[in-house]
Amino acid sequence: MSVHTEDTRKVTTQRLIEMKQRKEKIAMLTAYDYSMASIIDRAGMDVVLVGDSASNVMAGHSTTLPVTLDQMIWYTQAVCKAVKRALVVADLPFGSYQGNSKEAVHSAIRMMKETGCDAVKIEGGLEIKESVERILSAGIPIMGHLGLTPQSINKFGTYAVRAREAEEAKKLVDDAHLLAELGCFGIVLEKIPADLAQRVTKKVHIPTLGIGAGQYTDGQVLVMHDMLGINTEFSPRFLRRYADLSGVITDAVAHYIKDVKNNDFPNEKESY
Ligand code: KIV
Repeated sequence: MSVHTEDTRKVTTQRLIEMKQRKEKIAMLTAYDYSMASIIDRAGMDVVLVGDSASNVMAGHSTTLPVTLDQMIWYTQAVCKAVKRALVVADLPFGSYQGNSKEAVHSAIRMMKETGCDAVKIEGGLEIKESVERILSAGIPIMGHLGLTPQSINKFGTYAVRAREAEEAKKLVDDAHLLAELGCFGIVLEKIPADLAQRVTKKVHIPTLGIGAGQYTDGQVLVMHDMLGINTEFSPRFLRRYADLSGVITDAVAHYIKDVKNNDFPNEKESY
């Protein structure tokens, strides 16, 4: 078993900013349950994201829109029980912060109070400025999310690369500045051209975490089920698979079925 670091100090938002300053890359991965979060944390992950991708990989929905605040709190409670070192960031789900900043701060306070997570993540820039301000004024750290923001999939109509055109790229740069100036501690940049992600990363003092945004961001984030090969239906160009757990699990389960059918399991040693 290999782990990345012996450093057991808790990762904080301030430590992430210091990592950017000394050009140490930040590793972030999603988790949604106690057992996997525990493994990921012990391996040395810097940030564990309880993503609203739970809607896809845990609940089988085709978008992130259906997952509720109560469900995100449930997943986040399980992850927080397991994680000792990593910074735990929880997504506020669709409908829990857009359009009404009072509801936004209420959602963020519930998430922090009921789960013990370290920060929340929300999608968007100027259009959610008031919500960002209110949540930050309650003392809750925020990670922003720009580029392909899956909660707006019905507006985009496609999961294609965002901000290829100058106008959208300019808005993204402006939004990144805004989030940094308001006091967010980091920004996820999803599925945008690498040179744009590099430009944003150079311009803002807070860390950028890329997914499908090239190699020049301050860190990278992936969805655990995708990178471990649990979910094999999703194969975008940016995804690197580090394991074939779907194959490993299928083989193990088929072996178990065979042993049961052949009366090879349990044997005498495995009986009382
Ligand atoms: O929900 C999620 O998993 C995310 C990542 C893709 C960044 O937001």
